Amino acid sequence: MAHTDTAEPTRRDFLYIATGAMGAVGAGALAWPFIDQMNPDASALALASIEVDVSAMEEGQSITVKWRGKPVFIRYRTAKEIEEATAVPLSELRDPLARNLNLPDNAEATDENRAAKGKEPWLIMVGICTHLGCVPLGQQGDYDGWFCPCHGSHYDTAGRIRKGPAPENLLVPPYDFVSDAKIKIG
Ligand code: FES
Repeated sequence: MAHTDTAEPTRRDFLYIATGAMGAVGAGALAWPFIDQMNPDASALALASIEVDVSAMEEGQSITVKWRGKPVFIRYRTAKEIEEATAVPLSELRDPLARNLNLPDNAEATDENRAAKGKEPWLIMVGICTHLGCVPLGQQGDYDGWFCPCHGSHYDTAGRIRKGPAPENLLVPPYDFVSDAKIKIG
């Protein structure tokens, strides 16, 4: 039963091969946008750190930047938001840890430990829900902070988890204000 025919491909074989190849190109083109979204692009991978100029931002504004393929929220908080966050007793927090990579692991989740050092209005956080990784929406939810619509997690105005299935506060990445209006992330 072994196939021993070694003749040149017939015209029909050739057409079949050509069609198969085109199919493969088509699938590749379709798959690309998904691959592109799942992996950080080359420029993001290359940049271990980024610098963000926030001089144009005004109180109450937020921007999202991409760092190592992840969204990072930068929020210039209002006085009301800071007041709300500082008024919360630590005993009411679900996650008592600051989750701030600029501080020791056991730092408490006070507003001071979540916000930028000496620059209380600025909150810089990785915008990935600590439940299953969706990107939460800003200035929404029961605590006027961030709301993750995937399964209903509510974060407060310091990005601390207050309600819903997420177990941890939003992560604060390593960063530094290299000047008054320039933040280096990473
Ligand atoms: S991923 Fe955010 S609540 Fe589930």
